[in-house]
Amino acid sequence: MSRVLPPVAYESLQQYVEAGGGLGLRAARSISPDTVIDELVASGLRGRGGAGFPTGTKWMTVRSFASPLLDTTVVVNAAEGEPGSFKDRSIIRANPYAVLEGALIAAHAMDSRTVVVGTKLAFATEVARLWSAIAELETAGWLGAVVFNVVEGPSEYLLGEETALLEVIDGRPPFPRIAPPFRRGVVEVVATQADAESGSGLSADVKMAGTDDGSLAPPVLVNNVETMANVPAIIALGARWFRSVGTEKSPGTVVCTVTGAVQHPGVHEVPMGTTLGEVIELAGGVLPGRTAWAALGGVSSAIVTSDQFDTGLAYESMAAIGTSLGSAGFMVVADDVAPLSLAAGVSRFLAVESCGQCSHCKEDGGDISDLLGAMAAGQGGASDLAAVAVLLGTVGEGARCGLAEQQHVVVGSILQKFESKIRATMSGDAPSPGVHLVAELVDMTDDGVVLDESFAAKQPDWSHDRVDSGVSPVDALVDHRQTR
Ligand SMILES: Cc1cc2nc3c(=O)[nH]c(=O)nc-3n(C[C@H](O)[C@H](O)[C@H](O)COP(=O)(O)O)c2cc1C
Ligand code: SF4
Repeated sequence: MSRVLPPVAYESLQQYVEAGGGLGLRAARSISPDTVIDELVASGLRGRGGAGFPTGTKWMTVRSFASPLLDTTVVVNAAEGEPGSFKDRSIIRANPYAVLEGALIAAHAMDSRTVVVGTKLAFATEVARLWSAIAELETAGWLGAVVFNVVEGPSEYLLGEETALLEVIDGRPPFPRIAPPFRRGVVEVVATQADAESGSGLSADVKMAGTDDGSLAPPVLVNNVETMANVPAIIALGARWFRSVGTEKSPGTVVCTVTGAVQHPGVHEVPMGTTLGEVIELAGGVLPGRTAWAALGGVSSAIVTSDQFDTGLAYESMAAIGTSLGSAGFMVVADDVAPLSLAAGVSRFLAVESCGQCSHCKEDGGDISDLLGAMAAGQGGASDLAAVAVLLGTVGEGARCGLAEQQHVVVGSILQKFESKIRATMSGDAPSPGVHLVAELVDMTDDGVVLDESFAAKQPDWSHDRVDSGVSPVDALVDHRQTR
């Protein structure tokens, strides 16, 4: 099934138009922003960045927080950092036009003239593809008054967290904010001390969008690449068409990445509701001679055991088995990876990538990672497993963003489901399994998958120094807590 990811990449805007591209933008511009948003609400489209939030509801909320004077900015989240996910980069490589057309429709719906694609400096192929597609749209007269920018941020996982992405667009490091995008955008209106004391905003430094005092601060609309790419066809062909595949609660298609112990790692667009097992088969099935025991949906969703591979890839069915669809990037794990190794690898990824603004996230997360790492190296015992269980209960306390809770959810799910295997590994005579490398994907081609091997040397202070400084990124990279 191909709605946003064509089997063969479009090489030009003309090819995209011949395949039906452009009709959504034309239709959108002939109707009011509210009518566009109504159609999106009716379509039931849910954000593909991980949380599955209803896109139409988000657009309605952001529009209702608009500034009377300053433009709302439309941001495309192209920071794709979830380990095991390559779907956004695949869409940008094959069909940047749908992403940009979706963003232009969003700009119409927000009365906006500013679109920013937030991506990574390291994604050179995608950055080049985006700029060449933007140039084609400009030549073809699609942009109107809209100005595009592509912001190239650092490689940190947190860049994908939407408020961290907004910080980077504003020229600061990727440290998540407290205020959500509909309250605080990228165009900042500085508050006076009197404003702060009157309680007109949430911060003493910048005014919030949508406050009753007539704040001029504008909000920002942030949507994932795949979400944006779905918008043009919804507006061109209608909500009913969009709902003709998928399930009632999860309409449309989902673009899945499958890596790990499969014959042909790859990216596949399937109707929502297709089972995980079917998607693994599209990737050639499990490697011969191997037995898959689970699939891990990045580092944000509870592990899916092999007896659950017949679960449909839809928000409601994944929730029914105690997990989530996330960004539908599945790392298939087989018997060459021990559950203890995997838990240690996930925990290490999250502990290293934590920014340190919330003490439990950085400190408890670091302790969990150290304990599991020691166990995976053959040191540590039952009391350490109990200590990890306690820390998993506290790591999310006071967290600003979702990363801290991911330790609890993902690591907790592996420990809970494979406790007896983990205990057996720790007490057995077999060699210690070590820490499995869980890292972002650098590239995915016909020749295979390139994992970010450099992550093995990344330290919790975000350096690649031989020894970690012990200083958390937020303290090392300027003390931003004062100003945010
Ligand atoms: C730690 C963390 C990392 C995230 N990484 C990404 C990412 O790489 N790409 C993305 O689109 N969303 C990511 N998200 C989700 C975004 O914060 C946000 O929900 C999303 O961009 C909203 O778009 P959507 O409604 O279209 O899904 C991340 C969230 C968290 C907590
Ligand atoms: S929860 Fe963790 S990653 Fe998120 S802001 Fe707090 S310290 Fe940073």
